[in-house]
Amino acid sequence: MKIIIIAAVSGNNVIGREGTIPWHSKEELSYFKETTYGFPVIMGKNTFLSIGKPLTGRLNIIITSNPQLFIKFEDIKCFFNLKEALFFCENNYFERVFIAGGAKLYSEAIEKADEMIISRMNFDVEGDTFFPYIDPEIWDKTKGEKYNEFETYIYTKKVK
Ligand SMILES: NC(=O)c1ccc[n+]([C@@H]2O[C@H](COP(=O)([O-])OP(=O)(O)OC[C@H]3O[C@@H](n4cnc5c(N)ncnc54)[C@H](OP(=O)(O)O)[C@@H]3O)[C@@H](O)[C@H]2O)c1
Repeated sequence: MKIIIIAAVSGNNVIGREGTIPWHSKEELSYFKETTYGFPVIMGKNTFLSIGKPLTGRLNIIITSNPQLFIKFEDIKCFFNLKEALFFCENNYFERVFIAGGAKLYSEAIEKADEMIISRMNFDVEGDTFFPYIDPEIWDKTKGEKYNEFETYIYTKKVK
């Protein structure tokens, strides 16, 4: 099973401000939807609460110490940690799983991920939440596609 981090990141590395994404890009949201559709998407509690409802067409998995918060939502799964969530996906024979943030989850997942798909937005913004450092000793970077508001980059973990 391939573990893929997916994130939209501003030119100055911001991913969030005051609990939400500090820009609105329809184009990037469509890209995210197309890329993740049909596969499990793992999110931290704060990210899921900021979206407010499950993402359609994908198994929504939330990492939280308080699964009670999510009882009202049908068809989502909660785990206490990333390891348990990945174990569940592996046992259910998913070909790939996406880690969709936020910062806390990315920071742990970056060690476990095989690939990262980063939408690099064409602008800087003020923010309080940042994507973790990407170590070029660990990750190979290739250019993906160019859109109006962003460019995609694919990072693959170097083979040791
Ligand atoms: N630009 C983007 O692509 C993008 C994507 C996603 C999110 N965001 C932004 O990122 C911000 C949210 O990030 P965040 O770091 O505050 O929150 P987060 O990672 O979404 O959620 C943090 C919470 O999730 C649980 N959690 C996350 N990682 C965990 C781990 N490894 N082990 C155990 N529990 C874990 C904990 O919940 P409990 O407290 O219940 O234990 C933790 O308090 C928002 O501004 C959001 O809009 C941006």
